[in-house]
Amino acid sequence: MADYKAKPYNKKLDDLKSISKETNQAHYGLYEKYVANYNKATADLAKADKASANQIYSDYRSAAVDLTFAIGGIKNHEIYFAHLGGDGSAVDGEFKQQVEKDFGSWDNYIADLKAFGMAARGWAWTAWDDDFGKLMNVIGDAQNTFPIWNSHPVVALDVYEHAYVADFSTARPKYLEAFLENMDWNVVEASFKAVHK
Ligand SMILES: [Fe+2]
Repeated sequence: MADYKAKPYNKKLDDLKSISKETNQAHYGLYEKYVANYNKATADLAKADKASANQIYSDYRSAAVDLTFAIGGIKNHEIYFAHLGGDGSAVDGEFKQQVEKDFGSWDNYIADLKAFGMAARGWAWTAWDDDFGKLMNVIGDAQNTFPIWNSHPVVALDVYEHAYVADFSTARPKYLEAFLENMDWNVVEASFKAVHK
């Protein structure tokens, strides 16, 4: 099976307001490691002994669990990097209309996303849920925790310390403001249109 290839570095990440090029380039390097380890875990799983698989300790279990961590690390970061590089302005479109329906107002949504960003140990996402028919914010404490099925993340806010500690020390609220100032909501609008049925 062909290896998964990392998406190219988004050049706009070199010119963000307040979030440094150094932070983003190092962060992209972490993403590349998720890709490499996804490929390694996939290959290891293919070679692992199915007969010895067990829930306590086995090659199958190790590769299968770490595969989910790598998959999360790839998908979460691809969303994160792709929607940075804008001017933070809300875009009049289907996403904003749905936000106003599900959160009451754009400002309520942003306040909720920031609260999720403070509450999470890893990620805060905004996802369109096919079953509930609404947008909702969700947290994940690691790359592979709290999966929800039939739900499509369109915003991924990385709150692991590697995303901000070099620029903001422990001041996560300042990072959340900077993240929002650099958001390209046009990207979110396009992602939402692709999944909203
Ligand atoms: Fe990250």
